[in-house]
Amino acid sequence: MNQLSRSRRQFLKGAIVLLLLSGINVKIHAQNSSKPLVIYLSRTHNNKVLAKFIAQTVGGDLVEIKTRQPYPKDYQLMRSQVSNELNNEVLPPLDHSLNLDPYQQIFIVFPTWAMRLPPPIKTFLSTHNLNGKIIMPLNTNAGYGVGSGFDEIEKLASGAMVYQGLSIKGGNEREGNLFVMQGKTLQQAKLNIQTWLQAMPSKSNSSTANKVVHLTAQSTLGDLLEHPKLRLFADKILPWDGMKYDRTLPLSRISELMPYHHYFNIDDILKPLNTMILSNEPVFYDYYGGDVPYTGLFLLRGQPNMPTAVIVAGGGFQYVGSLHEAFPLAQKIVEKGYNAVVVKYRGGVSSQRATEDLAHAIGYLFNHQQKLKIDMNHYSVWGASASARMAAYIGSYGVQRFGVYDSNIPKPQAVIMLYTGHSDISNNETPTFAAIGESDNIASPNVMASRIQRLLQQNVKTEFHRYPKVEHGFGLGTGTAAEGWIDNAVDFWQKTME
Ligand SMILES: Cc1cc2nc3c(=O)[nH]c(=O)nc-3n(C[C@H](O)[C@H](O)[C@H](O)COP(=O)(O)O)c2cc1C
Repeated sequence: MNQLSRSRRQFLKGAIVLLLLSGINVKIHAQNSSKPLVIYLSRTHNNKVLAKFIAQTVGGDLVEIKTRQPYPKDYQLMRSQVSNELNNEVLPPLDHSLNLDPYQQIFIVFPTWAMRLPPPIKTFLSTHNLNGKIIMPLNTNAGYGVGSGFDEIEKLASGAMVYQGLSIKGGNEREGNLFVMQGKTLQQAKLNIQTWLQAMPSKSNSSTANKVVHLTAQSTLGDLLEHPKLRLFADKILPWDGMKYDRTLPLSRISELMPYHHYFNIDDILKPLNTMILSNEPVFYDYYGGDVPYTGLFLLRGQPNMPTAVIVAGGGFQYVGSLHEAFPLAQKIVEKGYNAVVVKYRGGVSSQRATEDLAHAIGYLFNHQQKLKIDMNHYSVWGASASARMAAYIGSYGVQRFGVYDSNIPKPQAVIMLYTGHSDISNNETPTFAAIGESDNIASPNVMASRIQRLLQQNVKTEFHRYPKVEHGFGLGTGTAAEGWIDNAVDFWQKTME
C-alpha cells in the first residue's frame, strides 16, 4: 500500500516535472488549504536554503520562481539583462503560474538585484491575484541592503497586507562569494528568522490573522501559553521553569504562583502582555543563542535609540516573578519613551549563575544595540528582592565579573533596587535608587538604609524611599503608599544621564 502510493506520487511528480520542462504553462494547485506558501527566487542558493528553512518551520509548501527563459550564467551578462529589464519595466514570463486560492500567508524570499526587486518577483506579483493575502517578505543581499525591494512589493501586491520584511546579508557574486548560507552564517540567519517569525500572525485564516486576541482577567494560563503571538516563548513569561501548569487557572489568580509577592494588580499585569501581543516587531530574543533553557529576553520598545532599562524580577532564586515585578515596570518605562528589557534568567540556580545570565543578556543587548534600535551606553539595571542583588552586583563589578569578558561593555548608569538585604559594596559604585516598605518581613529596611549610607560616604548619587505599611514584593505598588515610586526611579536614572 505504502509502496503503491509512493510510486504513484513519484509518477505524478515526474509528470509535473515533464510538463514544466516542456515549457507548457501549467497551473500548480495547492495541496493543503491551511498551509502557508513559501515562494523563492534564488540564483546562487542562499535564498533557497532560507526558504526551505521557513517552509519547514511554518509547515508550508515551497515553490521556486523560475523564468521561462533562464537568466545567463555569466554574472556580467546577467547584470546587464536585469538592468535592461528594470529600466524598461520588462516583466519576464514565469515558467508556471500558481493557484494561490488555498493560501492565505505567502512568504516571498528573494535577493536584491541592482538595489531593486528582481524582475521575476515583479512578474509574480503582477500576474497573481493577491487580494486579501498576507505577505511576508524576506530578502538576502550582498551587504547593501534590500534597496527598494520591500517598498516595491507593497506597491505591486495590491489588496494584500504586507508585513515588515526581514533583510539578511547573503552572498556577493560580484566578488566571487556565491553561497554563504552554511555554518555560523546560516545559524545566525535562522535565529534572525525565528525572531522575525514570532512577530507574524501564525494563523493562515485571514479573519484570525487580522484579529488580535487580547488577554483579559478571565483568560487562562492556557490562553496565554497558546496565544499565537506569545506561544513560542510564553513559558518564559511565567514564573516556574519546567512546571506543568494548571492551564485552566485564570490570570486573575496568577498571584497563586508567586508566593513571595504582594499587591497584584491584574491591569498592571495585562497591559504589557497585550502590548507584546499588539507589537508588530519581534519581542523575544535568545541571548544565549538557544543553548541555555529557560532564558531569553523581552524587548518592549519605547522611542528608537533611547536608553534602555534592563529589568530582572525576583522570586528567591526559585521562581522568576516577571509578570508582577518586571513586565509592569517595563510598561511604565516605555510609556515614558525609554526602551525596557525584561530578562528571564534561570530559576532554581545560585545567585552567581543567575547574575551570569543577566550579564550575558546585557552583553547581547550591548552588541546588538544598533539592530535593536536601543541605547545601551546609558542603560540602567533594575531588580527587586533576590534580583536586586543581581542588579547591585552588576552595578558594583560590571558584567566582566560574571563571565562576559568584553571590556567595552560599561557599567550601568544607574541601579534601581527594591526591597533587598544586600549589603555588599565595591570601591567603585554606581548611582543607586532604593525603595522598601516599612512592613517588609523578608528584607530589612535598616540593612538597605545602611548600604545607602555607605554609598553616600563614597559620594555616590543615591535616593532612598521607605513606604509606611507596605510589605515585601510590591512590584509597582499600585494602591499602596509605594505607588508612583517608579516615576521617582526613572527621574533618578534620567538625572544620572544629565
Ligand atoms: C544581478 C545581481 C544584482 C545584484 N545586485 C545587488 C545589489 O544591488 N545589492 C546587493 O546588496 N546585492 C546584490 N546582489 C547580490 C545578491 O542579492 C546576493 O548575493 C543574494 O544573497 C543572492 O541570493 P541567491 O544566492 O539566493 O541568489 C546582486 C546579485 C545579482 C545576481
